Amino acid sequence: MSSQDGSKRLKTPRKYSGPARFITLEGGEGTGKSTQSRHLVSALAVLGVEAFATREPGGSPGAEYIRKSILDPERPDLSALSETLLFYAARNDHLDTLIRPSLAKGIWVVCDRFSDSTRAYQGALGLVSDAQLAVMEKLVVGPTVPDLTLVLDLPAKIGIERAHQRRGDGKSDVFERQSLEFHKKLRDAFLGFAKAAPERFAVIDASGDEAIVRQRIWDVVSERLLGGATHG
Ligand code: TYD
Repeated sequence: MSSQDGSKRLKTPRKYSGPARFITLEGGEGTGKSTQSRHLVSALAVLGVEAFATREPGGSPGAEYIRKSILDPERPDLSALSETLLFYAARNDHLDTLIRPSLAKGIWVVCDRFSDSTRAYQGALGLVSDAQLAVMEKLVVGPTVPDLTLVLDLPAKIGIERAHQRRGDGKSDVFERQSLEFHKKLRDAFLGFAKAAPERFAVIDASGDEAIVRQRIWDVVSERLLGGATHG
């Protein structure tokens, strides 16, 4: 049971000794994924679970190099398929050099965006076909499917406002510049994925205080992956 203010959980931590898990956080702009990824890693550490937070596009030196090109506001237009291949090129490096070796060593991976972002941004918006995505997914991701995907859900308008606040006067990237309609479709896409595969997904209400969202996430991770181990 979560406390009302999301702050304290006073059961004694039970040490975890199972396989390493791959958790992804998904959702639109400004939903707090990167902050919550870091909180989750800290919460896991309390249970003695070695974990780290990473992100896509990026996460490894090669993938971060590709990220700069993909998100560069000055970059020339690319066809949807070319753009999608760049996301998968970055993902391939991230998986090969960081995600799979870490999981093999027993280290949990908490990733801010992964393939479901491609399915939403490039797929659900009709830019590349499901068949094209399936080929890339099989080639690059193969069996390394996340054990749990948390969709941080917010009304699109609130997410965009939060993302703008975070960005300040800085330049928005090519994806943040899209219309409200685009962001509404994205939200529907993520919710649709979750509905279609509830065994992998959990939708987290990302509205309200950061500490409350953190607790909502912990409740799901604890129940689904840790056999109910809890702590404050
Ligand atoms: P980022 O600054 O990391 O945004 P956010 O904080 O919202 O995660 O930029 C990543 C952008 O790239 C974001 O707008 C989503 C987009 N993206 C795709 O279009 N396809 C993908 O496969 C991934 C991983 C991200």
